[in-house]
Amino acid sequence: MVIWSRIRKDFPVLSELYDGKSLIYFDSACMALKPVQVWKAMEYYYKYLGACGGAGRSTHSLGVETSLLTEEARDKITNFIHAESSNEIIWTRNATEGLNLVAATIPLEKDENVVTTTLEHHSGMLPFFKRCKETGSELRLVEAREDGTLNPADFEEKIDDKTKIVSFVHASNLTGTVAPLKEVVKIAHEHDALVISDEAQYAPHQKLDVRDIDVDFCVLSVHKACGPTGIGVLYGKYELLESLDMFMVGGDVIEDVVYEGNKVIPKYLPPPHKFEAGLQNYGGMLGAGAAVDYLTNIGMDNVHNRELSFSKKLLEGILELDKFEVLGPLDYKQRAALVSFRPKSDAVNHNDIVEYFNEMIPNHKILMRSGNMCVHPFQYQIGIKPNKGEGVVRASLYIYNTANEIEIFLGALEDFAKAIE
Ligand SMILES: Cc1ncc(COP(=O)(O)O)c(C=O)c1O
Repeated sequence: MVIWSRIRKDFPVLSELYDGKSLIYFDSACMALKPVQVWKAMEYYYKYLGACGGAGRSTHSLGVETSLLTEEARDKITNFIHAESSNEIIWTRNATEGLNLVAATIPLEKDENVVTTTLEHHSGMLPFFKRCKETGSELRLVEAREDGTLNPADFEEKIDDKTKIVSFVHASNLTGTVAPLKEVVKIAHEHDALVISDEAQYAPHQKLDVRDIDVDFCVLSVHKACGPTGIGVLYGKYELLESLDMFMVGGDVIEDVVYEGNKVIPKYLPPPHKFEAGLQNYGGMLGAGAAVDYLTNIGMDNVHNRELSFSKKLLEGILELDKFEVLGPLDYKQRAALVSFRPKSDAVNHNDIVEYFNEMIPNHKILMRSGNMCVHPFQYQIGIKPNKGEGVVRASLYIYNTANEIEIFLGALEDFAKAIE
């Protein structure tokens, strides 16, 4: 049994007053708070090691221990997503870097196309937009439905035998939509297209089994999963990683650089080191390992079940007020633990709401995010105009939130709605 009040204590910021008020942190879709276990793991590196890791580098004791611990962290990620081998796990700076890596290195010809959706985070959209522009290939966009859901039949229409890549977000950071992943993977693979899933918002909240979903590549954002900033993960099936072009080159990715006849001939390492150029974020890797240990100890099914009940309360509570337009599907079972909304009246805008909840609630600061959540295309599609300053407020939840916090928020939102009538 998980004692959630104990979990909450691992996040000391939530027990402290900030400007004399208690914090209600509803911005975990942007960045999750970090439990003590994560910064202790990083502290160990900075306090007791501080040295260089990596195959064949510093062979002294501090270097060897750094290598051992960082490879152990890689193994933890491997188990967390049920990859076949730790050689399939590449450390990146964040999910964005992983998406750029695959977009830049999968061979793509002019007569081929890439299929993605209007619901993508810009980090999932622009690397493919850029690559298609460079290669002259076509970028095909599946439009999400008005309610933010994705229809497998729309993928079927866009994917053909010239489709090289199908890339899409598993759980949307804007609408909370959970994609029909397995159906899309099946359609893509029937056409021999490679599938990339953006797991930035899914993996921190639900069990992810890459072998079961059979994606070819996926990316994780460690800072959204209780881990440190500046570290992310790219997963890829080993033989595909082997076949990709190089991304960044330099130290740490080579077996040898032969000099012969006034020429250099580099020999590159196999994956995962092939994609980890330069000295790495060793402290971040240890933090990432501690973060997945932390989530695994709670149990991803426990995380998901708790969030489902919170999602229901939050979504239904906002809808009941009837003063706000909610983006995404209206059935909480179809969505992640976040709600983006905007007032039906234009007496206030999204930024005013976030400021009000940050500053004006007695005894509490309720921290949310306003803006466009880096998903402009879908907002244009449904009539919200980011270029005219229009946007939404997003309340997003995680393991440290409580039912009581949702009640306080809904009460304050009701007061706010009355005040702007
Ligand atoms: C769905 C989605 N994909 C990608 C990203 C980018 O993640 P990162 O900050 O790790 O690059 C985000 C961040 O908000 C996101 O929500």
